Amino acid sequence: MIETAVEQNEIITLAIETSCDETSVSVLKNGRNVLSNIIYSQIEQHKKFGGVVPEVASRQHIEKINEVIELALSEAKITYDHISHVGVTYGPGLVGALLVGLSAGKALSLAKEIPLNGVNHIEGHIYANFIEHPNLEPPFVALVVSGGHTHLIHMKDYGDYEIIGKTRDDAAGEAFDKVARALELGYPGGPIIDQLAQRGNPDAIDFPRALLGEESYDFSFSGLKSAVLNYINKQKMKGEAIVVEDVAASFQKAVVEVLTEKAIRCAQDKEVNTIVLAGGVAANSGLRDSLKKACDGNSIDFKYPSLKLCTDNAAMIGCVAYYNYLRGQRSPLNLNAVPNLKIGKGIF
Ligand code: KG4
Ligand code: ZN
Repeated sequence: MIETAVEQNEIITLAIETSCDETSVSVLKNGRNVLSNIIYSQIEQHKKFGGVVPEVASRQHIEKINEVIELALSEAKITYDHISHVGVTYGPGLVGALLVGLSAGKALSLAKEIPLNGVNHIEGHIYANFIEHPNLEPPFVALVVSGGHTHLIHMKDYGDYEIIGKTRDDAAGEAFDKVARALELGYPGGPIIDQLAQRGNPDAIDFPRALLGEESYDFSFSGLKSAVLNYINKQKMKGEAIVVEDVAASFQKAVVEVLTEKAIRCAQDKEVNTIVLAGGVAANSGLRDSLKKACDGNSIDFKYPSLKLCTDNAAMIGCVAYYNYLRGQRSPLNLNAVPNLKIGKGIF
C-alpha cells in the first residue's frame, strides 16, 4: 500500500495543462496546497524554429502526457483512486495542444467516474497567486501579461471578472520575443532581454509609450516593437554599433512604464488596495521592481508569484478547477477546446 498524504474529506485535484509548449500535470490538496507540479518544457524542440510550432507542440504533448501524469501522481504519493476531480485547460491556446490535455482529462474523468472541470488558462495565471499567497482573497486588480495575453482584470470574486483593458495588438510577451528575435538573441526572448536590460541604460533610446496617460486601459505594443526594429535597421544602415544592453533596457522600460501606470490607475479607479501580477512576463525583474515601487508609493498591496508559477504550469490550473468544483460547476464530457476562449463573468 502506497503511503499517502491524503486524509478523509480532503479534495484532491489532478490538473492538466497543455495549451502551448509545456506539458504539465499537478496534484493539489484543497486547492492551494501543491503536492506535485511536473512541468515538461518543450522549449528545446521549438528553439531552432525561433518560436512555438503548433504541430510539434501537439506531438510532444502526446508523447509526454502519460509519463507526466504518472510522475505527478508518484511525486504526490497518491494513486488514481485518491483523485476527487480533474481540472484541465480547455482554452485559450493552440487547438491541437489543448486537445491532448483535454482528451487525457476526459479519459480520466470517464474511467474513474469523477467530475471534470474545464479551466480558462488566463484565469489560471491569476490563481497562481492564490497558491503563492495562501491568505490572498479577491477583490483585486490583476495584470496578466504573458506570451499570448495582456489583460487588466478586476477580479471581484471567485469566477467573477471584469475585463478593464487588454492589448489591441501584440501581447507584452510577444513584444519581448519579437524584439529579441530582431536582436538575434534566441527564444524565448523575455528572460534574455530581462538579463541584458540589467546591464544597459534604460534612458539610452527614447522609445514610444503607446496609450500612456490616456483614459483607456487598453495596451498597444506593436508600435513600440516597430520602433525598436526601425532603430536596429537605422543603426545597421549607418554602420553604427547597436548596444544590445541599451536597446533591451530602453525597450523594457517603455513596456514597464505603461503597464505600471495603467495598473495603478485601475486599482485606484476600482477602489481596490491589491494588485496581483500574473503570466510569464510577471517573471520580469524590471516590471516587478517598478510595480513594487509604485504600489508602495500609493499604499497598494502588491503580490506576484514565484518564477516557477509565473510561466505555464498545471498547479495554477488546478487551483481554478478547485474553486469551480466547490461552486458546483461540472464540465460535460463533450467539452471542446476553445482556442480563443475569453475570460469574463459566468465562464466555466
Ligand atoms: O505565460 P507564459 O508561459 O505562456 C503564455 O501563456 O503565453 O508566458 C511566456 C512569455 C514569453 O513571451 C516569454 O518571453 C515571457 O513570457 N517571459 C518573460 C520573462 N520570462 C518569460 N518576459 C519578460 N521577462 C521575463 N523575465
Ligand atoms: Zn500562459
